[in-house]
Amino acid sequence: MAEKKVIAVVGATGAQGGGLVRTILADPEGGFAARAITRDASSEKAQELAALGAEVVAADVDDEASLEAAFAGAYGAFCVTFFWAHFSPELEMQHAANMANAAKAAGVSHVIWSTLEDTRDYVPLDDDRMPTLGERYKVPHYDAKGEANHFFTDAGVPTTFLQTSFYWDNFIYFGMGPQRGDDGSLSITFPTGDGRIAGIASEDIGAAAYGVFKAGPEMIGRTVSIAGEHLTGAQMAAAFSRVVGEPVTFNAVPPEVYRSFGFPGAEDLGNMFQFTTEFEDQYCGVRDIDETRALNPKLKSFDEWLAVNGSSVPIP
Ligand SMILES: NC(=O)c1ccc[n+]([C@@H]2O[C@H](COP(=O)([O-])OP(=O)(O)OC[C@H]3O[C@@H](n4cnc5c(N)ncnc54)[C@H](OP(=O)(O)O)[C@@H]3O)[C@@H](O)[C@H]2O)c1
Repeated sequence: MAEKKVIAVVGATGAQGGGLVRTILADPEGGFAARAITRDASSEKAQELAALGAEVVAADVDDEASLEAAFAGAYGAFCVTFFWAHFSPELEMQHAANMANAAKAAGVSHVIWSTLEDTRDYVPLDDDRMPTLGERYKVPHYDAKGEANHFFTDAGVPTTFLQTSFYWDNFIYFGMGPQRGDDGSLSITFPTGDGRIAGIASEDIGAAAYGVFKAGPEMIGRTVSIAGEHLTGAQMAAAFSRVVGEPVTFNAVPPEVYRSFGFPGAEDLGNMFQFTTEFEDQYCGVRDIDETRALNPKLKSFDEWLAVNGSSVPIP
């Protein structure tokens, strides 16, 4: 058998990268090998990936030279940033630039950059419908990723731009699951009114990325936008009701109320949901479910995700 093409995966111990590593390893005849990049090759998560058959390599997105060494000899690289680890759009852009430069220097043949829309293309900074944050952003964790696209283009790196969606896993890990109100009843809260939220199981992002690598050079230069389903808050609440065994309602709040909740990132997420709702046709429109399923035939619906993960969603 021909030598396997190595895919170097940033964030391999996390949600997106982990999904890609596990998908590569689950397809031993697929022609690809997984190189898991982590800051700590001795961690439990890194060792779990090694036990599954991944090559584990240490690198830090802060350190371009470490990335170049980790990308050396790889056919492909999956590049993702970690906004919620530092809340800095400037740092996120620096990390993207480091990965783009490292991929260029290492001569990687196909990069996937996990990105999102630059919302300032839709809502200019002087548009008062939502506040400007950090002086030059509307949705910092989107805008920084969208702005960073140019690092890959400028460096001449053969890149597919993968626009991801809201993880349903946020119901488990991000405190977005059902909460009890003063009357004791359960509800989920989003500032999305009747609008649909494009969502996905985070594991399915890596699986779609694998589909992009398998499709090969025809994907280079393309923007691929993925989702598992487009659902309103009310539809997600109804799905929760079926799993939790008691009614869960949808508590639609205005974006300004959501922005005032005070948790870290509340303003950023309030603006994000306002953007995805006001531009629902474009946002959901590009995130085609059938095209996502073509890249990842095992793509889960929300009900399928809940059937596996519902018991992990904390219910107060
Ligand atoms: N939550 C959502 O709904 C959503 C939706 C779309 C996009 N996103 C975006 O997804 C991105 C995060 O991806 P994710 O959810 O896959 O991340 P994640 O699950 O939080 O995983 C992060 C992994 O990256 C590694 N890491 C952190 N800092 C690093 C550094 N300086 N250098 C190298 N590796 C580092 C860590 O691994 P080690 O500790 O092993 O080094 C960690 O396991 C964010 O930028 C976010 O905006 C999130």
